[in-house]
Amino acid sequence: MYRVAVIPADGVGPEVSEEAERSLRAAARSYDFDVQTEWFDWGCDRYLADGKMMPDDYLDTLSGFDAIFLGSVGDVSKVPDHLSLELILGIRRGFDQYVNLRPIRLYPGVSTPIRTATPETLDMVVVRENTEGEYAAQGGVFKAGTSDAVALQTAVFTHKGCERVMRYSFDLARRRSKLGPEAPVGRVTNCTKSNALNYSMVFWDTVFDEVAAGYPDVETDMALVDALSMWMVKNPEWFDVVVASNLFGDIITDLGAMLQGGMGFAAGGNIDPERRFPSMFEPIHGSAPKYTGQRRVNPIASIEAVRMMLDHLGEHDAADAVGAAITEMLEEGEVGTRDMGGTNSTDEVGAAIAERIR
Ligand code: IPM
Ligand code: MN
Repeated sequence: MYRVAVIPADGVGPEVSEEAERSLRAAARSYDFDVQTEWFDWGCDRYLADGKMMPDDYLDTLSGFDAIFLGSVGDVSKVPDHLSLELILGIRRGFDQYVNLRPIRLYPGVSTPIRTATPETLDMVVVRENTEGEYAAQGGVFKAGTSDAVALQTAVFTHKGCERVMRYSFDLARRRSKLGPEAPVGRVTNCTKSNALNYSMVFWDTVFDEVAAGYPDVETDMALVDALSMWMVKNPEWFDVVVASNLFGDIITDLGAMLQGGMGFAAGGNIDPERRFPSMFEPIHGSAPKYTGQRRVNPIASIEAVRMMLDHLGEHDAADAVGAAITEMLEEGEVGTRDMGGTNSTDEVGAAIAERIR
């Protein structure tokens, strides 16, 4: 029995969360485990009502769950983004979810605006550092509100923080390898910018080299983040595992989402590999407030997040069934939301996938 906390939050978050839950339940029924979900009304409406996105003890509340599903957070018409997004960032940091795992694959039958991406060429995963770096929230504004104002935002790279996310990446490359024992097992690309960021990224590279030395069987590669963005489009087949800092990983995974056919297909897991805390799974698209309640957005990213959650929980057969159900529906090509050129609603697509899981 798994207890899953659902935080639907803002905009289209609730409607995609319903479809995530529907697939989760279908998988549980078919694979003989129970799930108990609890929904939390945290988000911008709550902020408008009582000045807080979530209660002060939110981490204590969530810590008793096996996993968290997050819909989407933010609605600038209600709350400035840098305040509302503390809901996500607070959980990532508070539960030390130091890996943000973002698989980038193209499901068959999905059209992508990028010609080089095909189901055969695109199968990579970005491992984004998720607790420090450029998102460390260190800084301040000096002489705020005056014409002499100066803003400082300091990135923080710790040896421990770099090392653990890199180790995870190398272990992942080994697990993903489909090559024989003689061939190098997988490849980890270091996403860096050490030509310009002479302290942080030079340090990052040093730690990468230290960790890589412990994995002589895994091929390594490095690319400056600007060039890497170009190569992801030009030669997507080159990439296997890419390890990136928090901000670089954020940026290249939106690019990755376009290779995947759009934000409607891109999912991520905020993972504590040591399993001290629950991990959190989410579609990486935003809350799209203008579409709220219209049931027109694509639920596949959310259902893909459920697939990742099941994998993390050790329900590998159920996870594979979710992936297979998505694949089958897309291959048949009869049901789709508007971003896919279809005419179906969010819940029709969600129901079609859940049906195939069953
Ligand atoms: C993401 C999002 C978040 C991030 C925002 C909403 C804070 O863009 O998960 O990629 O920057 O990490
Ligand atoms: Mn992002």
